[in-house]
Amino acid sequence: MKIYLAPMEGITNHIYRSALDAHFPGVDRYFTPFISATANLNKKQDRDVNPQNNIGMDLIPQLMAHTVDAVLHLQALLQERYGYSEINLNQGCPSATVISKDHGSGFLRDVERMDRYFEELFDRADFPVSVKTRIGVESEEEWDAILEVYRRYPFSEIIIHPRTTRDQYQGKPRLEQFARALEVLDASRICYNGDVYTIEDYQAIKAQFPQVDKVMIGRGILKNPMLVSEIKAFEAGEKYALNHEDWMALAAMMQQIRDVMQHTFSGDAHVLAHLKELWGYLAGLFPDAKKEIKSLKKSRKLAEYDAVVRLLFSDK
Ligand SMILES: Cc1cc2nc3c(=O)[nH]c(=O)nc-3n(C[C@H](O)[C@H](O)[C@H](O)COP(=O)(O)O)c2cc1C
Repeated sequence: MKIYLAPMEGITNHIYRSALDAHFPGVDRYFTPFISATANLNKKQDRDVNPQNNIGMDLIPQLMAHTVDAVLHLQALLQERYGYSEINLNQGCPSATVISKDHGSGFLRDVERMDRYFEELFDRADFPVSVKTRIGVESEEEWDAILEVYRRYPFSEIIIHPRTTRDQYQGKPRLEQFARALEVLDASRICYNGDVYTIEDYQAIKAQFPQVDKVMIGRGILKNPMLVSEIKAFEAGEKYALNHEDWMALAAMMQQIRDVMQHTFSGDAHVLAHLKELWGYLAGLFPDAKKEIKSLKKSRKLAEYDAVVRLLFSDK
């Protein structure tokens, strides 16, 4: 099974991806958070896709683009500047501002327009295109018509987060709709995404959908990067037990993120805002350290932050 790291805007940037890859190797493919199609890449986007900041990783740029011209323009730029060929299209973002412009999962609202868009795109594109999608806007009943559009075009991969826009992140992924996709599309091109938090969740998806060989994980890895080691051990038929080395790898990963952010961003406040967001996900790994996590979230200087982090790992 291949493991993909889900793109998460503001979180899984090159700093996070590189640190994860260095300390918990095993993710097979990474995706940039979405790049809105404008005439050029801004500084932050450019830094994020620059191969020098993504050494040794298979990285696919994700685009959110309203017109075929915009996709072709950005892909050409990414290819010329950095050698990227494949791109991924975001048809899953549920944010209100994004969908109000019919971007992200809002694009799923009008399947006829979607069909015309892909017809033109696949007519003109000479590079691989994959898509990351939800299963509808208001209701899962929209899925069959959306699937019928996907079926008609040669997407390199179709990554399915089986929730509707209306679901946001609530409720359970609609696995029966994911199963429906497997009846219509070639399973070798499908990747499952959604709510894989533990090795048991991973095993359940694998058992229920044995024909699927790609799983994308977002929050599960953010909450517990050791999940990558656990999955790799399981796939190799080895027993996994959380150990001192993995805790030290997590400490080193967080140190790397902190150091690169300090070097990249200006001022403690900016760096701390990012680090606190990451610790919001990691906190569950430290159930007995509620007081320390609270003081970490209150820290106003990196020196204060460093002291709390040292304490958090001191008994691991
Ligand atoms: C804060 C946040 C930012 C996200 N940003 C993106 C994004 O830029 N592109 C995208 O396709 N999905 C984005 N997603 C959705 C995730 O990639 C993923 O589909 C979703 O979290 C479900 O997977 P998970 O349960 O493994 O986290 C984002 C999700 C969150 C919570």
